[in-house]
Amino acid sequence: MGDRKTFYITTPIYYPSDNLHIGHAYTTVAADCMARYKRMQGYDVFFLTGSDEHGLKIERAAREKGMDPEAYVDQIVAGFKVLWDKLLITNDDFVRTTEKRHQKVVQALFQKVYDQGDMFKSDYEGWYCTPCEAFWTERQLVDGKCPDCDRPAELVHEESYFFAMSKYADRLLKHIEENPEFIQPESRRNEMINFIKSGLEDLCVSRTTFEWGVPIPFAPGHVIYVWFDALANYLTGIGYGEDDSNFNKYWPADVHLVGKDIVRFHTIIWPTMLLAMGLPLPKQVFGHGWLLLEGGKMSKSKGNVVDPMILVERYGVDAIRYYLLKELNYGMDGYYSEEMLVNRINSDLANDLGNLVSRTIGMMERYFKGVIPAASEPQPPDKELTDLARETFADVGHHLDRLDFSAALSSLWRLISRANKYIDETAPWILAREESKRGRLGTVLYNLTEVIRVVTIMCAPFMPTLPGRVNQQIPLFGDAEKLDWNDAGRWGLLASGIQAQKGPALFPRVDPKTLDEPQEPVPAAETKPAVSQEQELITIDEFARIDLRVAEVIEAEKMKKADKLLVLKVRIGEEERTIVAGIAQHYTPEELVGKKIVVVANLEPARLRGVESQGMLLAASNKDGLSILTLDRDLPSGCRVR
Ligand code: ME8
Ligand code: MG
Repeated sequence: MGDRKTFYITTPIYYPSDNLHIGHAYTTVAADCMARYKRMQGYDVFFLTGSDEHGLKIERAAREKGMDPEAYVDQIVAGFKVLWDKLLITNDDFVRTTEKRHQKVVQALFQKVYDQGDMFKSDYEGWYCTPCEAFWTERQLVDGKCPDCDRPAELVHEESYFFAMSKYADRLLKHIEENPEFIQPESRRNEMINFIKSGLEDLCVSRTTFEWGVPIPFAPGHVIYVWFDALANYLTGIGYGEDDSNFNKYWPADVHLVGKDIVRFHTIIWPTMLLAMGLPLPKQVFGHGWLLLEGGKMSKSKGNVVDPMILVERYGVDAIRYYLLKELNYGMDGYYSEEMLVNRINSDLANDLGNLVSRTIGMMERYFKGVIPAASEPQPPDKELTDLARETFADVGHHLDRLDFSAALSSLWRLISRANKYIDETAPWILAREESKRGRLGTVLYNLTEVIRVVTIMCAPFMPTLPGRVNQQIPLFGDAEKLDWNDAGRWGLLASGIQAQKGPALFPRVDPKTLDEPQEPVPAAETKPAVSQEQELITIDEFARIDLRVAEVIEAEKMKKADKLLVLKVRIGEEERTIVAGIAQHYTPEELVGKKIVVVANLEPARLRGVESQGMLLAASNKDGLSILTLDRDLPSGCRVR
């Protein structure tokens, strides 16, 4: 066996000026998704993240809290690590720029560039934006403010070392022009080409007016410019100067994943530094869009940040990761709101994916005692489904290879929707009525399980706990932690005979009404979608498939520990059934007993808080109240309703 192909991916190292928000979580989750995907493909992956701890911005943030910078960053960086744990981030290392190993690298690089004559001492007189840690010339400012963040810049006048960046401008431009993959997406690339063409100045790379930085060994009083320091983390993390074989194995990086705010630092300063050091340039710098709040850009200083830690606790890690990766279209900005997050959980995760799995297992239990049947001769809708599964595998790979997470998910969800439609087309409950159709019924359920298998594999980089949770209900994978990406492209890999068993909902619905309250998942039976103007029309035959019956309530009681649920015992003709209904806030058990109500008698049973509900009662409701349907004239229970 030859050496495995390597894949080195990095996130920015974030400033521990304050706790991280969902914008930062987006980048790290995206990089983690990519790292997991590549590992599943068999790559030898190195995934690096870290913290950018030096500089004036941090020093000031610490002083404002009356703390030493060191103690201050220690505490914030500990929080970064907890967040990455909660988000199931699989980074291979974490570079803190205050670590010895990193300071050594920074000093060695500085020395090397200095020794070869690419540094000179001079006077810096110009502007500085501390929040961005960026130098600007007078003409670059916009109304005296930082052109990047629109905050006031400060006038700086001090003795500094300069890096002869302008000397490398032509080589850099040529590299960018000859390597279209180097800066992605395309729009970012054009911006940078224009920036370079407007003229590169030499870069000020040391400061003397504060101390919180890496000292220049040969120049007391000077600390190295925080971006020169920070960018070098990408070398530290893989052992530059310490472990050559590891370094050579992973360098050049495959992707530096960054937000569009710092593309300039990564595609101009960083590559010119590398050119001066004689190191190969990273293969790609990818600048993703910005996650915005309704009120504009998220920022620590504006105080409108969203704490990802709380969201993970409230909605679960898979849901948050899914939402973030779905929301930002390729290279573009996206919006965050908790309402949209809840919509996605309810529609994409609970309805589309969750229902596909629960319906399939439910039918498997009902018709095959939970055992996955074998497939026989395919029929027309099967081919459409299997072709789409194959196409989806190719598409998702293609999109992920270009870091288009959102398109990858859209493509996956087309397959999920197709599979749900396949259930309606093949109508397994009708096949189940005739013994002669048993083979066909088995094929349908086998195909549905195959879709679940391939979808789960492809969802794994996005939603890492999903495969394990699916596996608890249908043991599709030997080891849900170690999936092979290519197995998603192998239709028919699934063996028949596996025993499935329905478990809790994969993605519990969230009642949007509880958005402002602490979240408690509510069972599916309680949500009431609004009537839509664009509803599909159904035929009378389709309506006839719903078996509505008159039922008499013979017992009713409150479900323990569930404010909204009542457990009813009803009689439908000769038969007795249990029905769980989300009406406890509207009816007392006593007022229901004896009532003749209308129930859906052929609904798939559902477990609600451990009780099997064998049907559903009909009720009208809006935000002001709820009324169950009863008979206007007396008729015996068991009567059909149509
Ligand atoms: O720039 N939407 O650190 P930083 C999307 N230390 N991504 C966002 C975001 C948002 N609203 N807000 C932040 C620094 N990010 C330097 C980096 S690297 C050698 C040094 C993400 O704490 C995005 O990736 O300001 C952005 O580039 C990064 O956080 C900036 O983090
Ligand atoms: Mg920033």
